[in-house]
Amino acid sequence: MAVRKIIIDTDPGQDDAVAILLALASPEDIDLLGITAVAGNVPLELTAKNARIVCELAGRPDVKVFAGCDAPLTRKLVTAEHVHGKTGLDGPQLDDPKMQLQDQHGVDFIIDTLRREPAGTVTLCPIGPLTNIATAFQRAPDIIPRIQEIVLMGGAYFEVGNITPTAEFNIFVDPEAAKIVFGAGVPLTVMPLDVTHKALTTKPRIDAFRSMNSKVGDMVAAWTDFFERFDMEKYGSEGAPLHDPCTIAYLIEPQLFQGRQINVEIETESELTLGMTVADWWRVTDRPKNAMFMKDIDASGFYALLAARLARL
Ligand code: RIB
Ligand code: CA
Repeated sequence: MAVRKIIIDTDPGQDDAVAILLALASPEDIDLLGITAVAGNVPLELTAKNARIVCELAGRPDVKVFAGCDAPLTRKLVTAEHVHGKTGLDGPQLDDPKMQLQDQHGVDFIIDTLRREPAGTVTLCPIGPLTNIATAFQRAPDIIPRIQEIVLMGGAYFEVGNITPTAEFNIFVDPEAAKIVFGAGVPLTVMPLDVTHKALTTKPRIDAFRSMNSKVGDMVAAWTDFFERFDMEKYGSEGAPLHDPCTIAYLIEPQLFQGRQINVEIETESELTLGMTVADWWRVTDRPKNAMFMKDIDASGFYALLAARLARL
């Protein structure tokens, strides 16, 4: 399979960190052109710092990290320290990064990259709120037809909400941005809670990270140990859903996932259901089928891939 050129747009977040590590551990599948940080789990200053911490953990201070938007398009930022901790990467003790942020704004990096690379050769992997992506579309609509695919983590249908009764966090933080992205007509693959809630960090899986006897393995085990307490208390599950790495795993082994090409619309009006991904799973409307909406995962295969690749770092 050809190496996929990607930009990861992210709000690290422990699960974002694992997604970035998986991408950096897979050079035969992924050419990571850059990382753009966005405000989400924690404010932008921290997400931009955390992205660099993860690159240095992977031994890759050469990766270009850009700061993007520090607030949603029109709304006040909602963060998730209750899940990810005050730093966004709570769990292990972490040193400040030495590598510098790029001077260019993350949105301009997205625009310039899509204009420079041959049309149809760059995939965007947003794993936080969609503010940077939507802003790029607003500033430079010419880039939209040049995108190969958007593979994002966000939304929910059967699993309904994790930040409100009806909305998943990434969509809820910036529903106007999500509406722009889901309506842009770009080939869209969505990893909603419906699939990520089937990829739980059970104890044997966390132990597999710890048994790597590597700094990366220890960090990932410590991050998942910390991160899972919220979901285990809330859902009574035997681990936490490792949301964001599902996007990168899909690029490497798409056969791990099954879903349907359906219509997905974003609620931006109702205060009660703001940020809901209204997924026409049963195809009861004739609205355009704008998204490959994933529902099932080979969780053992997913964790086997993660363990094999992270052991390389
Ligand atoms: O709802 C899960 C998503 O919100 C993940 O991307 C997690 O990192 C948080 O950003
Ligand atoms: Ca995230």
